[in-house]
Amino acid sequence: MTNTAWDTYSKQKPERRPTNAAGETTWFNWTQYADHGPGAEVLGIRPGATVLDLGCGKGGNLAHVAALDARAVGVDVSLAQLKAAESRWVDAGMVLHRTDAVWFLTESGEHFDAIYSVFGAAWFTDPTELLPAIRERLRPGGVLAFSQRPAIEGCYGCQASYINRSEDEDPLVVKRWDYEPERWVEILHQHGFTAATARVLPAPPGQRTIGTLLVRAHG
Ligand SMILES: C[S@@+](CC[C@H](N)C(=O)[O-])C[C@H]1O[C@@H](n2cnc3c(N)ncnc32)[C@H](O)[C@@H]1O
Repeated sequence: MTNTAWDTYSKQKPERRPTNAAGETTWFNWTQYADHGPGAEVLGIRPGATVLDLGCGKGGNLAHVAALDARAVGVDVSLAQLKAAESRWVDAGMVLHRTDAVWFLTESGEHFDAIYSVFGAAWFTDPTELLPAIRERLRPGGVLAFSQRPAIEGCYGCQASYINRSEDEDPLVVKRWDYEPERWVEILHQHGFTAATARVLPAPPGQRTIGTLLVRAHG
C-alpha cells in the first residue's frame, strides 16, 4: 500500500517554484520552509562526486545536485513522484530508479560520496534496516545527511503518519521513525558512522514554530 499512499501524496504536493528568492532555478532546501536553512554545502559535493537521494520525490534537490556537476542518482517508490521529476527536470541529467531505498542500496553495486534524504526514505524506513544498507554503499569518509520534522516530545520510534484523501475515504497510513537529536547521534554511532551531529534548525520568523531536524554523519 505504500506506493499508493505516496502516489496520493504526490497529487497533493505542489511543484517547486520556478525560481527561489535569489532568482536561482535550482537550489537545495533541507527544510519545510521556502528560502530557509542551509544548502547543498552540508553534503560537501565536489564535481564528479556520486550522490544518492533516498526518496527524491519530484526531484528539486536532486536537480540542484546535478547542476553541481555530480552524478545525481535518485530513488523513490512512487511512480507519480518520479514522473513529475522526469517531466520538470527533463534535461538535468538525473538518474532515477523506481524502487524501495533499502532494496536499491542492497542490490545496486554503486558506491556514493554522499547519500541524503529530505523528509524522504530516511524518515519512512526503520533505521535498523536502512543504516546498515547505507553503510555498505557510502564511501569511507562520505557524508550521510537527512532532514525531517523533529520528534514530538514522548513519541519516539515508529510512528504513524496519515495521508488524507477525500472526506469519504479513510486516510492512508505510512510509518515514520522519530527520535530526539541525541538519540540519532547514538544510533548512527552504533551503526558505525562517525562524527554524527543532529540539531533542530529553528523555523523562520513568523507564525510557524516547528523546526527541522537535520542529521549528519560520516561513513
Ligand atoms: C515527503 S516526500 C519528500 C520528497 C522529497 N524528498 C522532497 O523533499 O520533496 C517523501 C518521499 O519519500 C518517498 N519514499 C517513502 N518511502 C520510501 C522508500 N522506502 N523508498 C524510496 N522512497 C520512499 C515517497 O514516495 C516520497 O516521494
